[in-house]
Amino acid sequence: PACTQEEVNKVMDAAKVAQKAWARTPLWKRAELLHKAAAILKEHKTPIAECLVKEIAKPAKDAVSEVVRSGDLVSYTAEEGVRILGEGKLLVSDSFPGNERNKYCLSSKVPLGVVLAIPPFNYPVNLAVSKIGPALIAGNSLVLKPPTQGAVAALHMVHCFHLAGFPKGLISCVTGKGSEIGDFLTMHPGVNCISFTGGDTGIAISKKAGMVPLQMELGGKDACIVLEDADLDLVAANIVKGGFSYSGQRCTAVKVVLIMEAVADTVVEKVNAKLAKLKVGPPEDDSDITPVVTESSANFIEGLVMDAKEKGATFCQEYRREGNLIWPLLLDHVRPDMRIAWEEPFGPVLPVIRINSVEEGIHHCNASNFGLQGCVFTRDINKAIMISDAMESGTVQINSAPARGPDHFPFQGLKDSGIGSQGITNSINMMTKVKSTVINLPSPSYTMG
Ligand code: G3P
Repeated sequence: PACTQEEVNKVMDAAKVAQKAWARTPLWKRAELLHKAAAILKEHKTPIAECLVKEIAKPAKDAVSEVVRSGDLVSYTAEEGVRILGEGKLLVSDSFPGNERNKYCLSSKVPLGVVLAIPPFNYPVNLAVSKIGPALIAGNSLVLKPPTQGAVAALHMVHCFHLAGFPKGLISCVTGKGSEIGDFLTMHPGVNCISFTGGDTGIAISKKAGMVPLQMELGGKDACIVLEDADLDLVAANIVKGGFSYSGQRCTAVKVVLIMEAVADTVVEKVNAKLAKLKVGPPEDDSDITPVVTESSANFIEGLVMDAKEKGATFCQEYRREGNLIWPLLLDHVRPDMRIAWEEPFGPVLPVIRINSVEEGIHHCNASNFGLQGCVFTRDINKAIMISDAMESGTVQINSAPARGPDHFPFQGLKDSGIGSQGITNSINMMTKVKSTVINLPSPSYTMG
């Protein structure tokens, strides 16, 4: 349904009431329900994956792994929550100059209230549960605004939580048009925290949102720096996997290859050989390359490709498009004056920029507005560390393509790529606030003293 603003208000009211009771639910019980939801989600992997295939053209195998990975994420969140929320801190006053030991400060983590979760179309289930799990274990209630493409899968996923027995109103899913309820939701006075993954809408949200904690992941232009001494077969395999999985529609996809001239011909040849073997077609056939999510996305990708063509990039394959289906394309000899050198296509087209020094590669990487992830390929671990330190990216992978997972690893972007850090532990912490109680003794008391 396209929910109205009145319906959003009702959901927010229910979320507020449900949260109060949920915060009083013992932590072990919250964890138990999350484990139950995880199991139900996994049991229903097939129908939910089928929705992903139909709605967002995710290849069938990847759709199933998204659901299974989500169940595992929820279970891990339950366990991590028990560990990190089950303990607090005791501070004593005599560590600060001028104080005797007459004050004991007990601090622990308390929930924020209502968390608004807005995941993107490319992982409507996994990037939803990565927000739902941490919010719930920490004692918050949750309102989910799923992407339009992926909303049916998201509704079924939320239903698994309801089947597990989570109380009414604690998790709600608000579907509808961003243009009608988007701002209304993100500026709603009942929202106490926003966790958003998506495009630059996130920048607008962060300007409009009130004084609430924000967790934002807004895409990237992940660079793959290749040195002369790299294992070139490993490089080629990772460029294809990193750049073309789910047709390049991943925030962490390899989005620009910065390769030393001396090895560029060999790697381009190896990548082309692999691209020729990719299966292009509908997701039901478990094709590797499937149609991109909307016609406007396909048009945008085409715009970047045509700009590169006019400015003289070398097309390693013939550019081919049928509707939203775009065949994989490697663009060699891309130069910094081409849009594709900087913009994020979110499609199966990948620019290669040949470099003559490592510094040139780092310079290009750091000149980007984005800073999500990056990767470097070399057999020299010392050089890899130096390059990783120099790259302005939230994560740098050494000898592997960028990726968010495993889902408990910290995941964060610098610059326009985001605010805050995700990953299970960081998300739980972000969705809580520290609360202190100070015990004031009438006279100093020293342990064993
Ligand atoms: O927002 C991150 C997502 O687009 C990529 O996740 O797991 O494919 O690296 P992943």
